[in-house]
Amino acid sequence: MSAMIKVENLTHIYSKDTPFEKAAIKDVNLEIEEGEFVGVIGHTGSGKSTLIQHLNGLLKPDSGKIYIDGQDIWENKKNIRQVRFNVGLVFQYPEYQLFEETVAKDIAFGPTNMGLSQDEINERVEQAIEFVGLSRDLLQKSPFELSGGQKRRVAIAGVIAMRPKVLILDEPTAGLDPKGRDRILSQIKDYHKRTGSTILLVSHSMEDIAKFANKALVMNESKLFAYDTVENIFKQSDSISKMGLSVPQITKVFDKLSEKGYFTNENIYTVKYATDLLLKHLKKEEQ
Ligand SMILES: Nc1ncnc2c1ncn2[C@@H]1O[C@H](COP(=O)(O)OP(=O)(O)OP(=O)(O)O)[C@@H](O)[C@H]1O
Ligand SMILES: [Mg+2]
Repeated sequence: MSAMIKVENLTHIYSKDTPFEKAAIKDVNLEIEEGEFVGVIGHTGSGKSTLIQHLNGLLKPDSGKIYIDGQDIWENKKNIRQVRFNVGLVFQYPEYQLFEETVAKDIAFGPTNMGLSQDEINERVEQAIEFVGLSRDLLQKSPFELSGGQKRRVAIAGVIAMRPKVLILDEPTAGLDPKGRDRILSQIKDYHKRTGSTILLVSHSMEDIAKFANKALVMNESKLFAYDTVENIFKQSDSISKMGLSVPQITKVFDKLSEKGYFTNENIYTVKYATDLLLKHLKKEEQ
């Protein structure tokens, strides 16, 4: 079986042959299997957005290849439209891209472009709005009447309505309050569970990556530093810190405990796991 996403020797240079030339991606090789939930992390300017915009053909490689579900996406330029339907990309601050008179029309924009029947479009719009946890009553409202968090969810619904095989979200919680953040991330997690689609989530929060992703992709200075299980990535807390990133707070606490000889064989990166471990430990002490 071939990987859902395969990136081969990808290099991308902005403003080529000008004084502003900048290699934003350098020789990246990567394979992501179907159904993975991948957290994409890296310092600001490390190339995360540039990398993911290649996966749906929004950016074209300067060299290298992108395969989606075994297909070289640039082999035939006519296929790029199809690639955009298969690989849904939610930009940072996607609410700025809402422009239709009603929420329903905004969510229907992608499916309409796909040339689906009106019945199919309506069904998808209703399912998508449910997926992001908004009431159907909002469908006939103007997107501009909604709150910031609601707008963001409408924008995500618009991408989900295309039923992409791969869903990519570039910092979907940026600028939202903690409640709004948690809601959106839990809904994305549910969506992943229900559809089994492949998800890439760019985030600056290691806590979020630890909680929601099973794999982590780390970009550093335009190169792929690592693609591995979240556990294996957070094990390398020294190299992660050197890149100006951090490991989750709870991992730091347990690193300190391990220096003192406690829980030395454990690699902890979620609060839930830490709680379970401590409770188990306390029970043992009681006996
Ligand atoms: N349109 C552009 N033109 C020229 N240079 C760009 C452009 N977009 C990004 N860059 C540069 O390419 C590099 C990688 O940028 P990119 O946006 O991919 O990083 P990022 O990891 O997504 O950062 P952030 O965490 O801030 O979103 C940076 O040095 C950035 O300044
Ligand atoms: Mg970015």
